[in-house]
Amino acid sequence: MTHDHPQDIQDYLVFGEYGGVNPSVTDSSTFTFLDPATMSELFEHEIEGCFLYSRHWNPTNKALADALALMESSEAAQVTASGMAAISCTLLQLCQQGDEIISGRTIYGGTHALLNHFLPRFGVYSTFVDILDPAAVIKAITPRTRVIFCESVSNPLLEVADIPTLSRIARQHNLTLVVDNTFSPLIISPIELGADVVVHSLTKYINGTSDTVAGAICASKAFIDQLVDVHSGATMLLGPVLDSFRAASILKNLHSLHIRMKQHSLNARYLAECLQTVGLTIHYPGLPDHPQHERMTRLMNPDFGYGGMLTINMGSKEKADELMVRMQDAKVGYLAVSLGFFKTLFSAPGSSTSSEIPAAEQEAMGLSDGLVRMSVGLDHNIECSFGRIYRCLQEMGEVTEREKRSLELPVAA
Ligand SMILES: Cc1ncc(COP(=O)(O)O)c(C=O)c1O
Repeated sequence: MTHDHPQDIQDYLVFGEYGGVNPSVTDSSTFTFLDPATMSELFEHEIEGCFLYSRHWNPTNKALADALALMESSEAAQVTASGMAAISCTLLQLCQQGDEIISGRTIYGGTHALLNHFLPRFGVYSTFVDILDPAAVIKAITPRTRVIFCESVSNPLLEVADIPTLSRIARQHNLTLVVDNTFSPLIISPIELGADVVVHSLTKYINGTSDTVAGAICASKAFIDQLVDVHSGATMLLGPVLDSFRAASILKNLHSLHIRMKQHSLNARYLAECLQTVGLTIHYPGLPDHPQHERMTRLMNPDFGYGGMLTINMGSKEKADELMVRMQDAKVGYLAVSLGFFKTLFSAPGSSTSSEIPAAEQEAMGLSDGLVRMSVGLDHNIECSFGRIYRCLQEMGEVTEREKRSLELPVAA
């Protein structure tokens, strides 16, 4: 079954009061009842159109969650106050004391720290494996394993997980496959490929304006019901509720996600090809020499490209830092963590977003000090942006005569 997710979102109609074209923003933490019996019933199960308390559900958050469920082809969804809240609530709902998680080793540093430092305090332990190696995943399974966790396109190394294979392994061993799809919304549909739960940092591409922090969990209706259960649900009891004003603005931005993803991908592919021509070591899943290029081509939905993230390996931390400072001065973008913004953002993950990962592990996974991660923006004139980067590289002495002569730049699509 192939879905047209942007069309599904477009066809999802939620009106505001008085027929507003956007849903009304719920400006209430609590809701009135005419009948105490209905209130008691709501503590036991959901009643369509009836709300109790905003930490549990509120209409604006429900509208955003339903739209995200359409985007991920999931039965249901829940929104949270951050991507980390989505990840931690999901894992705490799935795991009891003594349980184990198998995780890809190249994941966002915050998630790595959650698994490696925080969850062990509650008796939940993780094994980090090369998620690209199915044999390593199978070898790590023990009778206590409950979850396989990975990122569809990993942060920052842009490894592309083989979700159908991981799903088969998970099913054979009665495990839950949780996939963080933050880097590839619309591009990859993990649930259609066999994942059980998809988590997102909405902070990134889905919101797209770097003005808020938010998260989402897309899964079966049964799992979302578990999360909001008043007696035992992780989102209900830990309480990372998304503010409804933010939910309303994220929902508006979601409607332009398909256009933004296409442009991020076009711009990133152009820069990746040009920078490779200059002779730099570039990682971009859309380049034919990316180790999982063929897999990504097979797994991705048509129309949205290979995403807006690329990495440049400058060989040393000093060169990485110098390039970033020069690029910021040249107005290529901002030296900042995060991604999915309309302006290009760059950071050196080894000393920032992945710094929670111990140095030895960074080395083992191939995360070098000289890596610059770029979230390519929505630049109208990407040739001009490349020209600026090229000048920065020239000033650094990184463009050799030979490379200058052989330079045949791709024409931007
Ligand atoms: C892949 C990935 N997942 C989750 C997160 C955490 O999201 P948030 O910052 O919204 O809590 C991040 C943040 O950078 C991320 O890159």
